[in-house]
Amino acid sequence: MTVKQIKVFAPASIANLGPGFDVFGLALNELGDILNIEKSSKKEVKISLSGLSNNIPIDPTKNSAGVVLLNMIKREKLDYGFKVEIKKGIPPGKGLGSSGASAAAAAFACKELLDLQIDNKDLVEIAAQGEAAVAGSAHADNVSPSLFGGFVIVCENYDFIRFDAPEVGLVIVMPDLFYENKTKLARSLLPEKVDLKDAVKNIGYASKMVASISLGDPVLFGRSICDNLIEPHRAKMIPHFKEVKKAALDAGAYGCSIAGGGPSLFAVGNDLLSIGKAMQESFGEISSEIYISKPNNRGAHKL
Ligand code: HSE
Repeated sequence: MTVKQIKVFAPASIANLGPGFDVFGLALNELGDILNIEKSSKKEVKISLSGLSNNIPIDPTKNSAGVVLLNMIKREKLDYGFKVEIKKGIPPGKGLGSSGASAAAAAFACKELLDLQIDNKDLVEIAAQGEAAVAGSAHADNVSPSLFGGFVIVCENYDFIRFDAPEVGLVIVMPDLFYENKTKLARSLLPEKVDLKDAVKNIGYASKMVASISLGDPVLFGRSICDNLIEPHRAKMIPHFKEVKKAALDAGAYGCSIAGGGPSLFAVGNDLLSIGKAMQESFGEISSEIYISKPNNRGAHKL
């Protein structure tokens, strides 16, 4: 019997992780998007949304999962379309790879539903093109961990290496700030050229972070969260950034930085709730939510 419908989950992720701008990504447990995708006789993509779906377009050309499905119709020369129900579990616009997870879920679901022989690198590219439709550029540091779980290093041409992530405790504080076209804005703050000394520092921390993953050392991982290239520029779009980061470190965090394009901050440490509360307090008049997580090593899967 031909399968007509599939339900999948794809986890949230944190991109950059401090020193690895556009290169590192880590999948998070629990928070994720659920997509139910059904073949439909009309050659079109129809989207319905539920959950944390504020400000997410249902126009398939403007929705990351919609773009993946439209591209799949062309790529596979399909004479039918898809109906997709997206249950958003990842708040959009907070730096947790929300659009990337929907794109990853859609790409993974299509591969399974249509029984396609797509290699993993192509799958990353398909998902990244979907995310590009909403984020403005096809970086793959969110879609890769959402697809495969774990800690992912993604390089030019979607070449990637995936590791199982160690049991790192992470706390994410999501401020109640909303920016239109947030990723575009966050990228527009960045300089074209960077200082060599700062680049060398980031290479050092990025190398330590990769070592921490292969050694399975959560403390070294936390201490590798340091970014001299991107954070100083993006800090400007996050009120109280300096105070929040200092509060995390004073409360015992090993490291703290901006989650993806922000405005959330994440920290790694032991007493995650105390660290999160100290960060929350330092956001002052801006309310925020605390989310505590471990890495997700499973990635996108069928439900
Ligand atoms: N690496 C990307 C950035 C992730 O920081 O702009 C945001 O989606």
